[in-house]
Amino acid sequence: MLEARSAIRILHAYKPPLADRIGLRLDFNESTAGCSPRVLARLRSLDAELLARYPEREPVEKEAASFLGLDPSQVLLTNGVDEAIHLLCSTYLDPGDEALIAVPTFAMYSIFAQAEGASVVEVAAGDNFAFPASDLLARVSSRTRLIAVANPNNPTGAAVAGDVLLRIAQAAPQAAVLVDEAYFEFHGETVIDPAFGDCATQIENLFVARTFSKAYGLAGLRIGILAGVARQMANVRRVASPYNVNAAALAVLPEALADQEYVRGYVAQVRNNRENLQRELGCLGLHYWPSHANFVLVRIGPAHAEFVRALRDRGILVRDRHTDPGCEGCVRLTVGSDAHMQILIDALREVVPLLGLQTGWRSELPNGVRS
Ligand SMILES: Cc1ncc(COP(=O)(O)O)c(C=O)c1O
Repeated sequence: MLEARSAIRILHAYKPPLADRIGLRLDFNESTAGCSPRVLARLRSLDAELLARYPEREPVEKEAASFLGLDPSQVLLTNGVDEAIHLLCSTYLDPGDEALIAVPTFAMYSIFAQAEGASVVEVAAGDNFAFPASDLLARVSSRTRLIAVANPNNPTGAAVAGDVLLRIAQAAPQAAVLVDEAYFEFHGETVIDPAFGDCATQIENLFVARTFSKAYGLAGLRIGILAGVARQMANVRRVASPYNVNAAALAVLPEALADQEYVRGYVAQVRNNRENLQRELGCLGLHYWPSHANFVLVRIGPAHAEFVRALRDRGILVRDRHTDPGCEGCVRLTVGSDAHMQILIDALREVVPLLGLQTGWRSELPNGVRS
């Protein structure tokens, strides 16, 4: 009988709740406003001839590289950041190697690493989900071949300073260090420049991933970027299919990059609404963690499932993160456009008292003052 590899047989299937997502979708950190109208117009203009051809990644890769201020040899377009993670795991992990992650974090690091037969070493986040830099450094060994950090992190929204990440990369030169900047636009800080900007000081083992699934509203097209030093990117390219990014995604990417005004407008709305939502959660007596991304993690307590159900009954989908390490009773709320956030806030004002959720403890504000 045909059997999957032993690493696959013991892998737990990752099943995000994708079925039946009818309503206001605040559960996957997608854009609630959708992509730029210019992108949509380009998509509508695609013809049969373009779809008949195998997609040509290179010309668009050049544009993406120039957008990031990098050389094309330093950039690979990928089928979302998911594929970038998969490619890094295939390129650098042998069975028995170790992949180091701080938890809670994005699930796919662990899944792709385990699929290669690597063991995943989890380091728990510090108080208030602070990045556990020294604990993580203490776990680096000669077997560590991958370190993945989402910055800002999902599902906590916590961010870590770029120089800490550069120090980790320098302390583990035998490991591929991925800085996943999927939520970069909502945070505004990147390690691209210090890591790759200057040839003389480039960090050979560092990689940065970006996605068009969040601020650009293109999760359905599946497109992302992996950046690194040219010599290492050549290794990653060997594993990638030459047709990994589809023709429609490649056709619209230049429009998406060109319409920065649209992205800036949406990001400004989200940042403002993130502050409003956090303030509202504080007023409702709920504990939340100040976020640098387009979502907020809030502690609901034992009634987390009831809370998710009550919002679903009101047409709003949010994500229960109760089973993530350190996230007992927590729910993640995506932050979107003004109108969508008003709908969420109205529902919260109804549901929180109805379920008797006020904990009475107030969250720590970003400046350390208690609300
Ligand atoms: C930290 C992080 N990285 C990557 C992804 C996936 O990105 P993509 O849609 O580009 O595969 C997500 C999606 O939620 C995420 O939270």
